[in-house]
Order: sequence, then C-alpha cells, then structure tokens
Amino acid sequence: MCGIVGYIGNNDAASILISGLKKLEYRGYDSAGIAVHENSKIKIKKKKGKLDNLISEIESEIFSGKTGLGHTRWATHGKPSDSNSHPHDDYNGEIVIVHNGIIENFESLKKDLTAKGHQFKSDTDTEVVAHLISSNYEDDLKQAVEKSVQKLEGSFAMAVMAVDQDDRIIAVRKDSPLIIGIGENENFLASDIPAYLSRTNDFYILEDGELAEIRKDSIDIYSFSSGEKKEKIKTHIDWDAEMAEKQGYVHFMLKEINEQPEALKWLLQDRLKDGQIDLRDSNIDKKWLSKYSKIHIVACGTAYHSGLLAKYLYEELLQISVEVEVASEYRYRKPLADKSTLMIAVSQSGETADTLAALRLAKKKGADILAFTNSRDSSIARESDMVLYLNAGPEIAVASTKAYTNMVAAFYMLVLDGLRQKDDFSKKALKKLTDELIKLPELMRLVIDNTEEKIKKIAEKYAEKAHIFFIGRNTDYALALEGALKLKEISYIHSEAYPAGELKHGTLALVEEGVPVISIALRKRLFAKLFSNLKEVKSRGAETLLITSAGNSYDEDTVDEVVELPEVDDYFAGLLAVVPMQLLAYYTALICERDIDQPRNLAKSVTVE
Ligand code: F6R
Repeated sequence: MCGIVGYIGNNDAASILISGLKKLEYRGYDSAGIAVHENSKIKIKKKKGKLDNLISEIESEIFSGKTGLGHTRWATHGKPSDSNSHPHDDYNGEIVIVHNGIIENFESLKKDLTAKGHQFKSDTDTEVVAHLISSNYEDDLKQAVEKSVQKLEGSFAMAVMAVDQDDRIIAVRKDSPLIIGIGENENFLASDIPAYLSRTNDFYILEDGELAEIRKDSIDIYSFSSGEKKEKIKTHIDWDAEMAEKQGYVHFMLKEINEQPEALKWLLQDRLKDGQIDLRDSNIDKKWLSKYSKIHIVACGTAYHSGLLAKYLYEELLQISVEVEVASEYRYRKPLADKSTLMIAVSQSGETADTLAALRLAKKKGADILAFTNSRDSSIARESDMVLYLNAGPEIAVASTKAYTNMVAAFYMLVLDGLRQKDDFSKKALKKLTDELIKLPELMRLVIDNTEEKIKKIAEKYAEKAHIFFIGRNTDYALALEGALKLKEISYIHSEAYPAGELKHGTLALVEEGVPVISIALRKRLFAKLFSNLKEVKSRGAETLLITSAGNSYDEDTVDEVVELPEVDDYFAGLLAVVPMQLLAYYTALICERDIDQPRNLAKSVTVE
C-alpha cells in the first residue's frame, strides 16, 4: 500500500525523505515522489516505477529545502504513471498533498470543483483533495484541511503543505495509519515506524479523526471534527534500526525465515511462568473457555491460514465451536456473533482494512475481541478488548513468515491456556504438551539448518513447472494452503492447495506426468488416509514430495522426495513443517529471478478494501 513520509527540521529534507521511502519500500508500490519547499516554491519530483527511477531523476538536482513530503504509490484510482504519482498539487503548486487510502466521493467533489473552474492533471482521487483544500484556503492551512476533511468519504492518511507556510505540515488520519516521529528540532511523519527508526524511537501514533500540526519544534494534535486539542502519550518503540535491516542476507524474506526460532522464543518466554502458559498480559479472562460458547476467527491471507489451523485444534482439544473466515467475507455477511462470542482478529500489521471492519462488526454485535498482532498501538490493537502481541520484531518482506509462525504459536498458547481450564484434561498431559511447545524454537533451528540444501535442489526442479499442488488433511490442509500461497505469491508459479480427499472430485484431472504434488502428512491418525491419496497421484505420474515427521513409515516407491522433520507432538508439528515450505517458495522464486521481497501487485499492509 502507499507509503507516506514527511520531514521538517534543519537538515536536507530531500535525502531524509528518500531514506524514509527506502525503508517503506516493503509496503509495495508502483511509483514514487517527493515535494520540498525550495526558494518560495514547492518543488515536486515524481516518477513511475521503482524508487531508483526517482533517485536517478533527481540525482543531478540540488535540493536545499528543510521541509517536505514523500510518497510511494500503490495504484487504486488511475494506472501507475508519472502524472498519477504523488505528491499532487492544486494546479498552481500552492497546496501539495500526499495520501494513502481511497476517497469514495471524489467523483462528485471533482464535478463541483470543475464547475468552479478547477482543472485537473491526473486521474486520481488525491488530486481532487488538493483542489478542495485549495478552495478552502485563505491563510490558515490547518483550518483549510479541517474544513475539507469534513467533506471526504472513505479512508485517508494525508499530509499537506502550503507554499506560503514552509514552517508546518498538516497531517490527518481516518482508517489509514500515520505516525509522527519525535526528534530534537526536527520531526518526522510516516505510514509506518521502520521509516524513521534510525532517527528516533519515540512516536505519536495518530488515531482516527486526529489532525496534527507539525513544526520543527512542536507537534500539536487536534480532533478534526471538534477542533479540540488533545494530549497524546508518546509510544516508545524498542526495536532498533538494525532489526529492520537486511544484516547481510540477500533478502528480508530469507532473514525473516532464519529469525523464526528467535522470534518464537521471544513470544514464548514472555508468557511462560514456571513452566506454564501465562497470558495475563493480554488481559484475557482466566476462565475464558467457559465464558464464551463460540469463537469467530477473522483474518486475511497468511493470517487466515493460522486461524484455520487453530480451528481444527480448538474443536478437537477444547470442544468449542470455531468459525474461521476471511475478513472480507465476514464483514459483508450477517454473522451470528453475540455476547457469547470471542472474536480473534489476527493481523501482523494490525491495519488490514477488512480485518478491522470485521472486528468492528462483531464488536457492534456484542462479541469480545482478542487481537493477535505484531504492531503495538495499531488500529486493530487499539480497537480490541484484549491483545496478544506477537513479538516477532519488524517483518519487512511482503510474504509473511515469522509473523505467521508466531500467530500459530499464539494459537498454541491459547489452546494450552484453554486446556488448563478443563477439569477433564490431566495436569500431566498439559505439562507434556507445554514441554513440547517449549522445544519448538530449537527444533525449528534444526529444521532450517538441515533442510535448506535439500530444498535448494528440489527448487531447481520446481522452478520449471507451470503448476504445483499441495495436499493435506485437517491441520495439514491449513498448512498446505499456506505453502501454496507462499509459493505462488513470490515465484508466480500457479500453486493450489486441496484437502487431500477432495482431489478425486475434480482436481485430479490436472495431475499428469511430472506435475509436483506436495503432501503434508503430520497428523498420525490421518497418515494412512493421506498416503493413499499420494498413491493416487503417483500412479498418474505426479512427482511427489512428502513432508512428514520422523517415525512415520511410508512406502518409498510412492515418494520421490521426503523432508523428514524432528519428532514432536503432531498438534505442534505444523510449526516445523511450514519452514521447508517457506524455503521452497524462497529458493524457487530466487531461481525464477523474482522480486522476492516486493512481489508484483502486492503490498505489505493492505489498508484499503
Ligand atoms: C502473504 C501475506 C498476506 C497477509 C495478509 C494479511 O504472505 O503476508 O496474505 O497475511 O495481507 O496481513 P496482516 O496480517 O497484516 O493483516
């Protein structure tokens, strides 16, 4: 999604804006631009394509301004082009704006403004807002923005400058993230914290309905509907800038795959007291299992896959009914959520628009909301009743890896907490499961070290394939979905996951000589069933890869390749099995020479519908 940066201080704004935009590249974008106050004008430079295009465009230019805005655009209204890129101005260059979100009523606003004589240079909704602010501007930029936002429908994070006021930037937020970095005699603005982590660890996180007037030595925050001034509390972020750097890895994705054992350890160590799970910090009721009669899990993409895996475990172990649904569907149906419902909203970024909307809907119906998120003070964290932070550290690659494993681990911790509340579940069995969970970070490290070379070889074969299928049953099906998503999103090879038993109801028609079928077979009680599905595809010429735990015996003629994982309770083996699938996606994409950290058309933080 679009990335916004802003700077006001005593230093060279252009280079600080570019460095901020670089840190936001992971969000996904198709054009970039900056605007800097220069000699009583606002100089705008923008370019379609990667940030490097913009950098080479401005290489020979001299910038001396100390106040400016920058933007990476992920096209929604109007195709990617130089003219549709941000920043936009009001034709005369008096008002300049960058925007993330969608203005739903921009067409009617544009019609009104056109009738008043305004002329437009782009197809974007954002340019219309620049004109709207310009039409409301006399000599007070804050007032003009305040007046204009009352007319906007949709979602926006925006930053605005006026040519005759180079001592301030006005920023507003509704349903799209925006943070202000607090410096000394300089302040920063960004869509996300990593943009300026190298310059400050203190931030104000703007909330919906807030407007900030940012000067180099002051930040004033107001409600943009009432105009009332607000006292904000600083958020201190203890990540360091290095955590958001590649640290010698070629790609963030590979770095993040390798960080998983550590990230998992951080998550567990905070919530393990005397060998028992302790979720007090999330604020969840000690007796939540009897408080709720059902659980609704909502999330998107990879986060949804973590929830699907949990559904199988929770219904099997806790005997509580669990519905899991992609948030974009949930939000537009009439779900049966009520006071007896616990909704678990799962989101790495904490800003995914559909997940936020699903959460709001369930809340309105009386459900209690528990968020699993990696982002402190994100919208989803703030609007939830309880939060379990994923503690995975900054995840920069678009394809989620370490956040996914910590989501699954968070579900594991919650299931153990639920089992603690069940009188018919023995303390001994609970202790055994907890001990298995504690072993996972170490075993995960072993899996990374022991499977990487083998996976590289398999990837060489797979990089030439047109279709790859994943099959599994039960929790292994949820894992298969994640394996297929990871592979398709970064290698662009068509890959699909099916419940193994479904193959013969249609998809088997696509299995022919040489088509890879990857089967995840961790659940011992379903191993034989899965294996018979594997035989079906093998007898039709498939190239088979079996991912299973040590101790499961199989007929070697049926499998071409095997990735054997260390033995662990099969409820938890998923966290080990996902690692070779992530590596397979990574190395296949590497051979295919894809843009691994920023796959085409995708964005890290999906803040629009
Ligand atoms: C895929 C991926 C996406 C996200 C999805 C939800 O690798 O990362 O499918 O999982 O966009 O994002 P969050 O978790 O930020 O809500």
